[in-house]
Amino acid sequence: MRLKIQGGRPLEGVIRANGAKNSVLPILAATLINGGINILHNCPDLRDVTSAINILEHLGCKVTREGKDVIVDSTVVTRWDVPDELMREMRSSVIFLGPIIARCGRALLHTPGGCELGPRPIDLHLDALSKLGAVIENEGGAISCHAEDMRGRDIILAFPSVGATENIMLAATACRGATRIINAAREPEIEDLQQFLRKTGAAVYGAGSGEITIMGGRTSFDTEHRVMPDRIETATYLCAAAAAGGDLTVKECEPEHIGTVIEKLSDGGADISVSGRTVRIKARQRLRAMPFVRTMPYPGFPTDSQAQLMAAACVADGATVFHESIFENRYRHVSELERMGAKIKVSGRVAVVEGVSRLHGAGMMATDLRGGAAMVIAALAAEGESTIGEIHHIDRGYEKIEDALTSVGAMVTRE
Ligand code: EPZ
Repeated sequence: MRLKIQGGRPLEGVIRANGAKNSVLPILAATLINGGINILHNCPDLRDVTSAINILEHLGCKVTREGKDVIVDSTVVTRWDVPDELMREMRSSVIFLGPIIARCGRALLHTPGGCELGPRPIDLHLDALSKLGAVIENEGGAISCHAEDMRGRDIILAFPSVGATENIMLAATACRGATRIINAAREPEIEDLQQFLRKTGAAVYGAGSGEITIMGGRTSFDTEHRVMPDRIETATYLCAAAAAGGDLTVKECEPEHIGTVIEKLSDGGADISVSGRTVRIKARQRLRAMPFVRTMPYPGFPTDSQAQLMAAACVADGATVFHESIFENRYRHVSELERMGAKIKVSGRVAVVEGVSRLHGAGMMATDLRGGAAMVIAALAAEGESTIGEIHHIDRGYEKIEDALTSVGAMVTRE
């Protein structure tokens, strides 16, 4: 499967943001904990969501999908292992470790292994869980945990890891006493997970600040929860309009979740207005370069929008310097963008983008989820036709991206 894109057309119209991939995944894992019925609204239809549902069904849960609703009945859980083939489907399936331990008192997972962004260590996850009392053996790619009697305590994270913060929150619901996560990740998806956990009766406080407290002791109510909008999908469409030009509105999003992206695009001369849950971008003239972009943990500039902003910087007037401080190998999209005439120099975690007046269409292969999105953005801005292969990467995080873009005037087909 590949996407074929005729570039050079402005984006005009309205796109609705879908539910957030990086929120629905930990919440799906968390549905294991309450041993009841969990009705989730605004779930995006993504490959990663299907992978998470496959894991839940493997563990014994009954899962049904009705449009954007996913209902998980975790009353019966018959297994505590996630086999290799299911772990390989989705790198972030390590998020199941905490909830399986909380529910079953033990877990057997296969290490998710590296991914296209470089090695994806889980040392912070395992170190924290062992401090809570889990006995962890990690050999030959399999992680086996026993945690019959976990006790809450302070956990200081060396890095505000999103996944480690989520895994600790989920495991701590089954600990005796209080667990306090210090230097916790502050991403909005962590707050969404806290809201979900509170609906199951768990006592969780502080998400969004650098310190989260979880009072253990299982209380388990059935839940109903609406997944927050996808801030990275919203940022992606804003970068697309900035690159291709036009007048695009994204509705049902949370503008304050992408303040740093809006700020950078505004620095580049895009006219962006925010009203409630709507963001509108007017890009009538060529973007100016945005001098320096450093990715940081939330609320800093999101690493998940670095590639997309780089695609817009490729056709901006002037030079933009990127510093990717979160992942060690998150410039794999650069060589593909260069095939379209982009001028980019990479040295370690720094990339210097020299804007060109026009990109030309080319044949490309998606390297990873957000790198693939960057290629789509560059193709929309380029003169002529582009094709992008390996689009399963893109389908992991964007629901029918060709339909969304076509609905606002782009010429994108899947073939
Ligand atoms: C989450 O990944 C997101 N994924 C990523 O989005 C996002 O890029 C990342 O957070 C940072 O915001 C989901 O939420 C499903 P981390 P996660 O643990 O939890 C290092 C996308 O495109 N680290 O905050 O894996 C790690 O190597 C995806 O939607 C350790 O060293 O991110 C990385 O350099 C990509 N040891 C950095 O921390 C650990 O134990 C950030 O990782 C854990 C992480």
